[in-house]
Amino acid sequence: MIPKFLTDKNLIPNVTINPDLNYLGTETAFGFGAEVIKVESSKKFSQIYKFHVGDTGPKTPEPIINTAIQALKDKQTKYGHFLGYPQVRQNIAKYWSELRGVEIKPENILLEPAGKSAIELSLQTLIAPGDKIIVQDPGYPVYESLAEFYHHGQVLAWQAHKDEDKQTLEFRVEDLEKLFQENQNIKLLVINTPQNPTGMMMPKETLEQVAELVKKYKFFVIFDDIYDQITFGGRKHFSFLSIPGMLDWTVNLNGYSKNYAMTGWRLGFLVAPEWLIEIFGRLAINKWSNVNKMNQIVAGAIYGDVDLDGFHYPSIKEEVQEIIDKDFVEYEKKGGFVSEALNLLKPYVVCNEAEGAFYLFPSFTRVLDLKYVKEDLGLKSDVDLRNWFLYERGVATLAGSDFGQMGKGHIRFSYAEDRNNHIIPGMKYILKVVIELIEKSGEVSPLKMEEVDGKIDELVNKYFSA
Ligand SMILES: Cc1ncc(COP(=O)(O)O)c(C=O)c1O
Repeated sequence: MIPKFLTDKNLIPNVTINPDLNYLGTETAFGFGAEVIKVESSKKFSQIYKFHVGDTGPKTPEPIINTAIQALKDKQTKYGHFLGYPQVRQNIAKYWSELRGVEIKPENILLEPAGKSAIELSLQTLIAPGDKIIVQDPGYPVYESLAEFYHHGQVLAWQAHKDEDKQTLEFRVEDLEKLFQENQNIKLLVINTPQNPTGMMMPKETLEQVAELVKKYKFFVIFDDIYDQITFGGRKHFSFLSIPGMLDWTVNLNGYSKNYAMTGWRLGFLVAPEWLIEIFGRLAINKWSNVNKMNQIVAGAIYGDVDLDGFHYPSIKEEVQEIIDKDFVEYEKKGGFVSEALNLLKPYVVCNEAEGAFYLFPSFTRVLDLKYVKEDLGLKSDVDLRNWFLYERGVATLAGSDFGQMGKGHIRFSYAEDRNNHIIPGMKYILKVVIELIEKSGEVSPLKMEEVDGKIDELVNKYFSA
């Protein structure tokens, strides 16, 4: 059987291909991103407001770029160490041990071509035929996609509990334990916090309760805290590794993409028990040989000095931290602003609070219930609404159900983009678009069309004047 993503494009292979490809999903952010570019170049709209991107707004800090340039000038262009050079792993291990309050050795670190690789390595290593994997719903779609590809029929969803009033999505441990009681052979659980797509953080107490389940049922956790430094309102990220004994049961996916605004560099690392690093290293040799040498030098210099092949690369730790801390302040301002702006249309749009990462996951169920939306526009789902926003109004967002069943009726807003070009004018624009939908349905909008600019300007003052 040929997968739909090929038949849709009328691409029919003339050989037999792996039928498991039918189970391979995707990360809509990339596919839909291409659609956004298409609409943009069609010039149908004077501007596309971009709330769909999972990429960082800020650019890679200059000291990182300078270290990379120096490495290239020094001709650091040959094969590198398959696990990551010892000193590079040493620097990461030292920093990570201090950060997490637990002893992490260089032998626990693997340098990889960005964090995503950790997902596939774990699914190829820790799951035997018949074993099951639990993913969060809603959650980052690549987990379910790859888990289905390798182990279809073995993927279970830990569904978030929806609070209709606050529109928060809370992952409850009792729901998780039920999955263990009802299923045999669960070997892997994925936890992502701060989370994509919700921008919510998992509390320390919840993680501690999950650790109790690990001890009881013996399963591994992929702990994805790739947004760990991007947290707001005084919240501090709590790591699963900080719970005594959990280093033995965790593959910690982290890396440079989000914190350091380095998505395009494809550079990451994971933390895992030493025996797993041995296996992952062997897989790494077979898959990508090594992370490129320039990137290895950068990865080390971000946390300490690196000496390689007679060249010295000084630590850029302090200067880089100073720069990214400013980026995080800007994310926090934009997150608060977008959340409050969308809530001006409550109860039609109900938005959660920005806790971390750079996403919000407002509910648009009441918008989807509007007469004009259902009957005149014929929009039946969050996917239809996302498409209408882009193709008919020039606003790019992602559909909630692209992140799982529990995402139905939600729209994911990323606020990574530039404040003045996208976030502020984009919010004015989208509020007006939704008000139009409410009024055309014969209902009374909580905010009038002519009040939008003034209200948003008030919020701009509140969040961005300092
Ligand atoms: C939750 C989550 N995990 C992992 C990744 C992958 O990151 P990387 O660029 O390091 O592969 C992303 C990227 O969007 C993400 O949102």
